[in-house]
Amino acid sequence: MLKTQSAKDNWNANLYDQNHSFVSRYGNNLIELLTLQEGEKILDLGCGTGDLAKKLSDNGGYVVGVDKSQNMITQALMKYPNIIFVVRNVIDLGYNAEFDAVFSNATLHWIKQPKLALTSIYQSLKPSGRFVAEFGGKGNVQIITNEIINQIKQSGIAYKEEQFPWYYPSIGEYTSLMEEVGFRVTFAEHFDRPTPLDGENGLRNWIKMFGSKLFEGIDETRIGNIVTNVEEKLKEILYKDGKWIADYKRIRLIGIKEK
Ligand code: BEZ
Repeated sequence: MLKTQSAKDNWNANLYDQNHSFVSRYGNNLIELLTLQEGEKILDLGCGTGDLAKKLSDNGGYVVGVDKSQNMITQALMKYPNIIFVVRNVIDLGYNAEFDAVFSNATLHWIKQPKLALTSIYQSLKPSGRFVAEFGGKGNVQIITNEIINQIKQSGIAYKEEQFPWYYPSIGEYTSLMEEVGFRVTFAEHFDRPTPLDGENGLRNWIKMFGSKLFEGIDETRIGNIVTNVEEKLKEILYKDGKWIADYKRIRLIGIKEK
């Protein structure tokens, strides 16, 4: 039976490290985009269990990792006791012109109040500081989520738009918000990144880790049936050579704090 994991503040940090390490692996390219200078003060926004914060620290950054989840922060502190990790909410970071750069991988698609998040990020940066981020863009994992919603409805359960846990903006929408907040956008791209999920149960594990909000109010047995149906429907499209490939679409951008 599939037991779901709340995506809000009840993350299972062990499961995250065991089955979803690809999230931070892909973040390595984003570190290149940051072009970190020795001694710079970096805020790792949505640091999870700390793997990218550690890389930033190894590259010479003075790093503070923040995450909304206490479980993630506890695990990050156990893994990397020499780095500062604190629980903070992206929309209310409470920093004032303290960081040379804000770095964020695979977090901002969870924030459904993007202007508040961008304002909070902007306030955290020193003048001319940079914001370097990657997250899910318009159409991200749409084949998977459309089929889950379709199967929920087909099993006679009402589905409400508010249950959708993610914000997947277009590049135009997000960069416009950045400009409204005061950033100069110097780089932006929206690209397909087909993402292999580990093992035969990769899709099921992904849904369990990230998609619980879609199933709110549904009992575990029915969730199990829905997920099995989703797997059956999508096998032909997303399962190749013994692996599930998720239809990720990413936004990657750099903004500079002006004014
Ligand atoms: C993403 O990185 O695009 C992503 C990760 C988990 C859930 C949804 C999207």
